[in-house]
Amino acid sequence: MSAARELKRAAITAVGHFLPEKIMTNLDLEKLVDTSDEWIRSRTGIRERRVLEHGATSDLCTGAVKMLMENRGIGPEEIEVIIVATVTPDMFFPSTACVVQEKLGAKHAWGFDVSAACSGFLYSLVLGAQLIETGAYKKVVVVGADKMSSILDYTDRNTCILFGDGGAAVLLEPTDDPSLGVIDHRLYSDGSGGQFLYMKGGGSLQPPTHESIDRGEHKLIQDGKAVFKVAVYGMAEVSAEIMERNHLTGADVDYLVPHQANLRIIDACRERMGLDPAKVMINIEKYGNTTAATIPLCLSEWWHAGKLDRGNTLVLSSFGAGYTWGAILLKWSIPRKVTA
Ligand code: UT7
Repeated sequence: MSAARELKRAAITAVGHFLPEKIMTNLDLEKLVDTSDEWIRSRTGIRERRVLEHGATSDLCTGAVKMLMENRGIGPEEIEVIIVATVTPDMFFPSTACVVQEKLGAKHAWGFDVSAACSGFLYSLVLGAQLIETGAYKKVVVVGADKMSSILDYTDRNTCILFGDGGAAVLLEPTDDPSLGVIDHRLYSDGSGGQFLYMKGGGSLQPPTHESIDRGEHKLIQDGKAVFKVAVYGMAEVSAEIMERNHLTGADVDYLVPHQANLRIIDACRERMGLDPAKVMINIEKYGNTTAATIPLCLSEWWHAGKLDRGNTLVLSSFGAGYTWGAILLKWSIPRKVTA
């Protein structure tokens, strides 16, 4: 008779991130489109973003996973699964996860990509956690990375000022402490929102042609106002929902870790949750919207800065193209990093 697998929670046991060195400031963008530093800062909270000049999304992933492995003291051959959340894969296929597996030398790992735009990391974290919880795997890497500069139209002031490049990763492992790890989640999709944020060209609907390129169909298109309205409501509601389901008040939450699309969306979410401003992770001013990378980038930066401790209660929350949105309740499990 086969023994039943013991259910264990999945905990984040290491974090890492990778940011390109090149900084593109709002002043740099003033030279490209009719915009101003003042407009961008007041409407979005962004001051600058990073741009990957050479390389692809897999390089952002590889850099982030290398930092994570160093922190945890493991080698690439110990990784069992690699999940990459991205809307800017190196190529349609093979998956970026396969490219990353090869670049890292993670020869015992299998992996796949997840396309859920700004909610990609949350979707992937839930998938990775379930692989751990079933007892099937013990080391799952979840990466969120996007080279948004590769799909931006730098003549469109509505979109090019918003996004940046970056990657970040977490390692999931089983924990014996049931009070830690990925505790609960709510994930949603609504395909009727697809018309407001998309990249039309390059797929089976519109294979690339000279004409489709001339029409700008291989670049990101967004109706910012339409997305803003639903994002501001959706992210706040799902964050409140995860708190209510788990009988939490603002006082019980140590950090909101929001997707970084717009400071005004983050503020509305914080208010709905009844949180003190000091309890919100915000780095949008430095990186803009790095799509799948925003949430793990915050986790990695805050832990490296010694601002996250074992037992902290976190609500991760996102809204993005699809539409896709969701929230995860997480109990942090890595002890505070001692900083100099
Ligand atoms: O992460 C994926 C999900 N995406 C989001 O969550 C993004 C949601 N949307 C937003 O964050 C905001 O809608 C934006 C930041 C994209 C735009 O802010 P807004 O306050 O909604 O501005 P708007 O689109 O209503 O535009 C206001 C004005 C317009 O001019 P008029 O029509 O009032 O004369 C725009 O043409 O600002 C103008 N404008 C700009 N001006 C200077 C639009 N973009 C710019 C710009 N610089 N870059």
